This record gives sequence, C-alpha cells and structure tokens, in this order.
Amino acid sequence: MDTSELMLKQARALMAGLCPDREVYLGNKVPKGEAKNTLLLFTHSLNEMGAEKAQQYIELVKPSVILLMEPGTKDAFAKTLELRQWCVSKGFNVSYPCFSNSPCPLNLEEDWCHQYLKTRHAQDVESMTQKLGRDRKLLPMTIHLYTIEELSKNQAQEHTARLVRVYKQTKHSFEWMLCKEVEGQNITFNVEVPKRGMSKKEIKAFEEIMAGEKIHYSVVKEMEQKIRIKLI
Ligand SMILES: C[S@@+](CC[C@H](N)C(=O)[O-])C[C@H]1O[C@@H](n2cnc3c(N)ncnc32)[C@H](O)[C@@H]1O
Repeated sequence: MDTSELMLKQARALMAGLCPDREVYLGNKVPKGEAKNTLLLFTHSLNEMGAEKAQQYIELVKPSVILLMEPGTKDAFAKTLELRQWCVSKGFNVSYPCFSNSPCPLNLEEDWCHQYLKTRHAQDVESMTQKLGRDRKLLPMTIHLYTIEELSKNQAQEHTARLVRVYKQTKHSFEWMLCKEVEGQNITFNVEVPKRGMSKKEIKAFEEIMAGEKIHYSVVKEMEQKIRIKLI
C-alpha cells in the first residue's frame, strides 16, 4: 500500500522478478470487498500515512492478513500500536511479535519493541557505509503480523517467549529481556543465560541472536531481579 509512482515502479520491478505468478496489486487501486486469503502489506508507509488512513485502506480491502514492516523507531512503534489496537477490535489476532492480543507491557514513555532485518548491499554502498562508520546491514524494524485466523495458540507455551531486548553481555552471561503471555496478558521479564560450558562457537552463535526471535527455555534459577535460564 503506497501511492508514490516512483515507489510503485520499484515494487513492480521487484515483484516481476520475485513472484511473477502471484496476483499482486500495488498502490491504492485495490479490489474492494471480502478478499479471502489476501495479504495487505505496508512497508514504511504506515509511518507516513498514520493509523487512521491505514484503517481506511484495511476497510476497503478487507484482508485476512496484514503485514507491517515499518521503521524501528519509537515514533513508528506508536503508530503501529494504534493500528494494532484497532485491528484487534476488528477481530484480528496479533500473530507476531506478541503472544496475545492484550496491550503491550513496555513502558511506552521510554521504550519500544523492534526487530531487525539483516541486509546486504552492493559493494559500493558497503564501502561507503564503512567509510562513514555506519552499520546499514542491520536495520531496526517494527514488524507486525495480524491474522484473522488465530495462528498464535501453538506459540503460547509456558516456556516460550519473544526476545525483545538484547542488553550488553557480561563476562559470564548473555542478558536479555523476554516477553510472553501469562494468563492472557503480555508480560516482560529479564533473564540471563550463563556462558559457562559454552564453546567459542556457541558463544558466537549466541551473539547472533537478535531481538524478535522466539526463545524456548527452561528456568534454572529465579533471582531477585531476573531469571537464570537455559535454552531448550
Ligand atoms: C519511506 S517511503 C516508503 C516507500 C516504500 N513503501 C518502501 O517500502 O520502500 C513512505 C511512503 O509512504 C507513502 N504514503 C504516505 N502517505 C500515504 C497515503 N496516504 N497513502 C498511501 N501511501 C502513502 C508515500 O507515498 C511514500 O512512498
């Protein structure tokens, strides 16, 4: 969903290369009505149009799935949460990143939830970003998936959580904030994963784990401020 002719031209070229056989509508000239099995996609456009305009598009298309891929900023997250609340009120389920449709538990005055997209660029762009000391390979994104069908039930297991924040690791442990569903509410809590017993290779693999991933864990010890866990 976008209205910029330049952006639509680029999208057309991408779609022609990636999925020439799919029925894809670009722009706001979409078929109206009960679109069964239709995905409505906003990429960095909800952020500009705002939640109210996005709601109008959703009411027009009546999709069964909505995917948002927006900037990983506090501002974009606020707009996403506004749309999330409206979508839930219209019968959508939050299938990613949350484990339930209940409100976001973060302190929204100072915090927001985002994920990352790992990208690669052409060699000239890579060397330019290196010279500028800017990492453009890891893009913070706000990624949300809403579905009319409830997909998330199998995710809401007792020891399954979403990694929402990766803190600076200590000498002895990885330090994370997780989010999970408890009795229908989303809650966040801090955990540590001890490095003891990990090989260098395992430590490297842990360093690659990013916010947005699903974590299966067992509790090793409940401490005052956090829980010590191990991954299953
Ligand atoms: C940062 S660009 C993102 C472009 C493209 N969607 C992408 O992912 O690369 C923001 C886009 O929001 C679109 N936009 C802003 N207001 C809009 C509206 N009311 N309806 C549809 N698109 C809108 C603009 O046309 C612009 O291309």
